[in-house]
Amino acid sequence: MRLDLCTWPDVEHYLRHKTHIIVPIGSTEQHGPNGLIGTDAICAQTLARSLGERLEVLVTPTLAIGMAQHHMAFPGTLTLRPETLLAVVRDVVESLGRHGFTHCYFVNGHGGNIPVVEAAFSAVYAGASLGSGDPSPPRCRLANWWRLPTVAELARRLYGEAEGWHATVSEVSLSWHAHPEAARDVPMQPPVAPTGPIFDARAFRRRFPDGRMGSNPSLASAEDGARFHEVAVAALAEDFQTFVVQA
Ligand code: NI
Repeated sequence: MRLDLCTWPDVEHYLRHKTHIIVPIGSTEQHGPNGLIGTDAICAQTLARSLGERLEVLVTPTLAIGMAQHHMAFPGTLTLRPETLLAVVRDVVESLGRHGFTHCYFVNGHGGNIPVVEAAFSAVYAGASLGSGDPSPPRCRLANWWRLPTVAELARRLYGEAEGWHATVSEVSLSWHAHPEAARDVPMQPPVAPTGPIFDARAFRRRFPDGRMGSNPSLASAEDGARFHEVAVAALAEDFQTFVVQA
């Protein structure tokens, strides 16, 4: 159920029966020596589309560029400033609200988006609370697929500590499940990357020279990706139902 493949009468018809919508959001940023630049957007998109099929809920086009300033010392990364991403998310939610969508369920693929997207939701609600925006804006939820308990548990079981924090084994696997032709064998040294705090792009590259944080994505496989896909879609479906019942 893709919004971009609907006509406006299709959407008008949908809104007579249902007012929920799924919004995939990712990032376009380096993912280490074997991970695709589009990993976060690819993961969010494949999960969101499968979720939309399962629940018969519309899915918007993927917001594929996120807040990735700390990856800018690696070529190919694109970033929005935090305030730009906040404005984009707010405008998307308010656009959906104008058409009568009441529940916006964001499927997120990138940790760096979390504080900004949550702030954007607050900005939408503040418009209602302060009387300057839509008095009854859509309810929003941000679902971070890799943090879903069953997904995190599967990653722990398969990879232990080598799952890591960025260019993780699970996300590389899931992106290869979506694009099996992208799978590749790349030797990594050290096998498990260092960990530490994140500041600006230059500091990030100094501390994490090949782009990985704490992970060993040479363990990734499209087969594992299929397992993550199945577990994540099931967990998202449950989380979605809780959201629409509570909100
Ligand atoms: Ni990622």
